[in-house]
Amino acid sequence: MQPIVLISGDGIGPEITESVLRILEAAKADINWISASAGMLAFESSGNPLPDETISLIDQYKLALKGPLTTPVGSGFRSVNVALRQRFNLYCNIRPARTLPGVDTRYGNVDLVTFRENTQGMYIGMERYIDDDENQAETVAIITREASERIIRAAFEYARKHGRKKVSLIHKANILKYTTGLFLKVGKEIAADYPEILFNDMIVDNTAMQMVMRPEIFDILVTTNLFGDILSDLASGLVGGLGMTGSANLGDQHAIFEAVHGSAPDIAGQGKANPTALLLSAVMLLDHINRQDTAEKIRRALYRVLPDKECVTADLGGKGTTGVFTDAIIRNL
Ligand code: NAI
Ligand code: MG
Repeated sequence: MQPIVLISGDGIGPEITESVLRILEAAKADINWISASAGMLAFESSGNPLPDETISLIDQYKLALKGPLTTPVGSGFRSVNVALRQRFNLYCNIRPARTLPGVDTRYGNVDLVTFRENTQGMYIGMERYIDDDENQAETVAIITREASERIIRAAFEYARKHGRKKVSLIHKANILKYTTGLFLKVGKEIAADYPEILFNDMIVDNTAMQMVMRPEIFDILVTTNLFGDILSDLASGLVGGLGMTGSANLGDQHAIFEAVHGSAPDIAGQGKANPTALLLSAVMLLDHINRQDTAEKIRRALYRVLPDKECVTADLGGKGTTGVFTDAIIRNL
């Protein structure tokens, strides 16, 4: 049995985690789940949103599936997600967004993968007030050649391995000439090693517009941390919403798989949560550990259920609950 650390998370986390565990069990995925706590629950019980024990379990077992974690806005503790990505050097955040059968969206032909640099840039919260009255604040965004190289190379390697045709590097090098300018410069250098793959670069604001107007022009996107955060939510919106997209956070030693979405406090505890995003994250995990057969079996069952409005959740225009959706996937395995 493959040991995998499991963090069920906050808000809708426990509901969608239960769903995914039931589906993987029914698919005979043969996983030994090792429960660990993090987020609000851990904070309330121990005063620490990221207990040492959780860190050492992930360190030991190398793989984790994680539900969404609430991060208080304004004051409160620092993001556990950011802390985990930094602690385990999970520099490569892969977020596929693909139009799926039977899911009503404005587009029929989206199939893009965002590669988001996951450890640097204007996302890591390196901030402070610069005056005593707290009326001026600054944030520090560091970009290094090394971190840029490894994420951009990961994007090209993925393109090569999966027969993808094009890598688009997204930046704001017209204004942020040093930080995202460096990212762009490194991208151009690395692109030369992959002559069979088309390479272009695009400024982030134009990219947001193009993704809405003509999402089919995108294949692989590679970008810095904050832009990747924003554009990957946009990409989710093209394929049916945040309930539809999973993700992998990969380092050289460790990997944590999680939905793109957050803890969705507005629908928590009501049986409304769509388990697909976390399920697709678990499927990415199965692919990662070379359990392609089980991954494919679950994917096929999901695709059979998605068009059935009696079963899918309200975010997909359906009448089902998380439990009904889950039961239907299990019946179709
Ligand atoms: P959110 O992603 O939790 O929710 C945004 C909207 O999408 C809400 O209307 C929600 O109901 C809907 N939604 C999200 N997931 C859904 C699902 N599976 N099924 C159906 N509808 C779904 O983003 P929000 O509200 O900005 O953040 C809530 C909390 O989550 C915050 O504390 C934030 O810091 C945290 N967060 C955590 C992430 C993580 O753990 N990786 C990622 C993003 C946010
Ligand atoms: Mg986000």
